[in-house]
Amino acid sequence: MAEPPPGYTIRHATQSDLPSVIRINRATLPENYHPSFFEDHLKKWGRAFYVAERDGEVVGYIMCRVEWGFGFKAKGLVKKGHVISIAVLPEHRRKGLGRALMLRAMDSLKREYGAEEVYLEVRVSNRPAIALYEKLGFEKTRVLHMYYLDGEDAYLMARKL
Ligand SMILES: CC(C)(COP(=O)(O)OP(=O)(O)OC[C@H]1O[C@@H](n2cnc3c(N)ncnc32)[C@H](O)[C@@H]1OP(=O)(O)O)[C@@H](O)C(=O)NCCC(=O)NCCS
Repeated sequence: MAEPPPGYTIRHATQSDLPSVIRINRATLPENYHPSFFEDHLKKWGRAFYVAERDGEVVGYIMCRVEWGFGFKAKGLVKKGHVISIAVLPEHRRKGLGRALMLRAMDSLKREYGAEEVYLEVRVSNRPAIALYEKLGFEKTRVLHMYYLDGEDAYLMARKL
């Protein structure tokens, strides 16, 4: 079910949401990007860029891109959705927003971009995120050693769409 919890809305991100998205990204994740990176993703893959809103305030987002690469199960090249960044402000967590953002984005990656699978990287210590992805049917497919700038490993997680 991709419906947000009562009182919240999930909608496509727009250019004017980007300052809020960037603020949330900086407040919640060590992986931060230049504003042009967010703009580029919005321009190219905006149908899979969503924000969660409450009372007119953006409280979470998901940003994705679409790539060609080797499938994690199938042989040969497949179109893959890549979740680049997802975050929900701490006071709005455990209400189902992360799940709803993921479901919306995965639906768009499949229906609007024709992606056959979806993948992401996650810190091996990030138990909330790993729990969310496993609940959504993602599998750990590889460990990426020293993936993050501080030396932490990442799990590569993927699922079919
Ligand atoms: C990961 C994150 C987006 C999850 O958002 P959320 O809105 O709290 O997630 P949901 O409420 O939809 O949780 C769905 C399920 O995920 C799992 N989960 C989420 N947070 C969890 C936690 N702190 N501990 C254990 N399981 C957790 C649970 O199975 C949960 O279902 P339940 O509440 O019915 O038990 C949020 O914790 C976050 O913004 N973290 C900081 C940024 C981040 O780490 N992003 C991911 C980078 S890869």
